[in-house]
Amino acid sequence: MQKNHTASQQDMLDNPQRRQGMKILLAGSLGITTLTASHSAGASEHCVHDYNQAVDYQGIHQAGVITPDTKEAIFVAFNITALQKNQLQQLFQIISQRIAYLTQPQKLSSNKNEQLPPPESGMLGQRLSPDSLTITIAIGHSLFDQRFGLADKKPKKLIPMPRFPNDRLQKQWCGGDLSIQLCANSRESVIYALRDIIRHTNKYMIPIWKIDGFLPARDIDNHTTAVNLFGFKDGTGNAANTDAAKMDELVWVTQTNNEPEWCLGGSYQAIRLIRFNLEFWDRTPLEDQENDFGRHKHSGAPMGMKHEMDDPQMNKDPHGDRILFDSHMRRAEPRIPERHVAKLRRRSFSYSLGVLPSGQLDMGLIFVAYQNDLKKGFIDTQNRLNGEPLERYIKPFGGGFYFVLPGINKENNYLGKKLIEA
Ligand code: HEM
Repeated sequence: MQKNHTASQQDMLDNPQRRQGMKILLAGSLGITTLTASHSAGASEHCVHDYNQAVDYQGIHQAGVITPDTKEAIFVAFNITALQKNQLQQLFQIISQRIAYLTQPQKLSSNKNEQLPPPESGMLGQRLSPDSLTITIAIGHSLFDQRFGLADKKPKKLIPMPRFPNDRLQKQWCGGDLSIQLCANSRESVIYALRDIIRHTNKYMIPIWKIDGFLPARDIDNHTTAVNLFGFKDGTGNAANTDAAKMDELVWVTQTNNEPEWCLGGSYQAIRLIRFNLEFWDRTPLEDQENDFGRHKHSGAPMGMKHEMDDPQMNKDPHGDRILFDSHMRRAEPRIPERHVAKLRRRSFSYSLGVLPSGQLDMGLIFVAYQNDLKKGFIDTQNRLNGEPLERYIKPFGGGFYFVLPGINKENNYLGKKLIEA
């Protein structure tokens, strides 16, 4: 296949550092304008990836809710097949042990007994580098049915996810007794962890749906806010996760929330699988795209402003001339504290599946919100968004509401201990 290459083209093929340059030549011959490749070495330096980074899994809260963004995620919902409360307890204990093991560095044992299955998948070689892995466990409304006698312990706001007006929910993508969010910085880390968990727990639970999420692997335009598949910065208006008081106010269940004692330190998790109509979006004028969000596309600034973090000054725009009343941002957070305050923290990822029967791409957003009051958080915010113009481009098809168990610590030495033993 290489016989028609000139000597210099062959040199480029043999020399990885020069291949990028060749792509540019070829692109040029196709009439496509491209940037020069002079930054390629710098770009790879920029993407230095520390696989050894470990996140502490212990504390009053589980990791993965307000920990820094990672590039990769998997969301999986399970149905519990354990029949008795003591089996459910064993399941929570096993999951807790796996979290303790998988999120910290390990030297993997190589089993020499050929008569037995190898103790782990082998997909990471001899060492387990945690790669900032977090594993976050939450339980659904259905776990509080008659099976385990937990009905009177249900978190007060936990309900099955209802159907909102724009939803086209598909049963096979909804609900579940338990959800697992796995986050790390590479695909293989989350897959390895999921396989390990399934291997150790399959006598007590089975997966019913799973979806992979990602954030851009590169820094886009030197901004830290991730860009979603619509090309908009997503997360600008999120409260900083370093603000502990704010996180207590928005995210974590505290004494002020009037929940059962065992819930303290937990949080409500809303997951919404939202399909985008990207083919339609890509033919939509920029002006409409920006008005639908209320922000400029490239800078992320509120309409009429310059910088992403500029205050939208909605009080100076009382008639919605600049930031339309119908825009996503203004409906989600109208900034009239006495009437509406979005009491949630988002941690969303993009997803990319296959092709729909219509021939359109199956891509969109795994919208994830954490809050200490599901009603004041996700539900009230979604109700304000119902009917927004953005709905022309989005279709929620799955997800669920769950309650994130309080973390593992000295008193609560496995996840769910207080729920099971109290
Ligand atoms: C198709 C799905 C969605 C997309 C593409 C999307 C995208 C965005 C974008 C680009 C922003 C502006 C930048 C930012 O502050 O992060 C934003 C803001 C926001 N979104 Fe969404 N979002 C979606 C769904 C939702 C849902 C389902 C909710 C909650 C029910 C929600 C709640 C919010 C909130 C609270 C803000 C912050 C508004 C502000 O403080 O200015 N979003 N979203």
